[in-house]
Amino acid sequence: MNIIFFGAPGAGKGTQAEIVSTKLNIPTISTGAIIREAIKVGTDMGKEAQSFIEKGKLVPDEVVIGIIKDRLGKDDCKGGFILDGFPRTIPQAEALDRMGVKIDVVLELYVSDEDIVTRMSGRRVCPKCGATYHTKFNPSTAGENCDKCGEMLSIRKDDAPDVVKSRLVVYHNETEPLKDYYSSKGLLKTVVGQEELSDTTRLTLEALGI
Ligand code: AP5
Repeated sequence: MNIIFFGAPGAGKGTQAEIVSTKLNIPTISTGAIIREAIKVGTDMGKEAQSFIEKGKLVPDEVVIGIIKDRLGKDDCKGGFILDGFPRTIPQAEALDRMGVKIDVVLELYVSDEDIVTRMSGRRVCPKCGATYHTKFNPSTAGENCDKCGEMLSIRKDDAPDVVKSRLVVYHNETEPLKDYYSSKGLLKTVVGQEELSDTTRLTLEALGI
């Protein structure tokens, strides 16, 4: 199955994508994670992307389209994949269509802006393995460390409250129009994100029919 996870920053796309990815044994492709890794390693692409990401702006379309083209060409995508955070603009969606990629379902996770701000303030991430936690809703059993690999957890730079506000504005202006794009193709399904993570997971799996 080829799935797009769609929704505002912090809506829970990465969290649900990880669960579905394990269940279906297909890779999750997160453009955000790929860009953060490139920044960490210091590649040219990472250097170009850093100022956009840290201000909560979108990285230019041609950069992310190039990332996706390369990644979808890899063998592990042949049996299906999850796109988390791509496409984020109409030109990105059109580029995906031009690549001849067939999408089975676009799953929107809806969470209000108010709840997003609360969620982002408690998010903790593992800089080594990429696992995501929340201090209240999904704490690590290892406290301040990752319960999967033991690394000290950190706070993403773009989770600072003023950056979160910018990301929400960008989402409403540039990404939300994709709902009409995919709804007109009959591909859009919406799940309302619940307070309990396991409830969101149940609704997500139901919506995907798995
Ligand atoms: P990216 O990494 O994709 O960030 P995002 O879309 O803003 O999404 P997040 O990773 O912040 O949140 P999420 O929805 O995955 O939520 P999560 O599961 O972590 O992109 C970062 C940046 O890269 C962008 O701003 C842009 O600059 C650039 N970029 C990336 N792709 C691009 C593209 N295509 N074009 C241009 N630029 C691009 O959950 C959030 C928190 O809530 C966690 O703490 C989690 O534990 C908690 N939580 C999750 N579910 C629940 C629940 N049901 N109840 C309570 N808490 C929950």
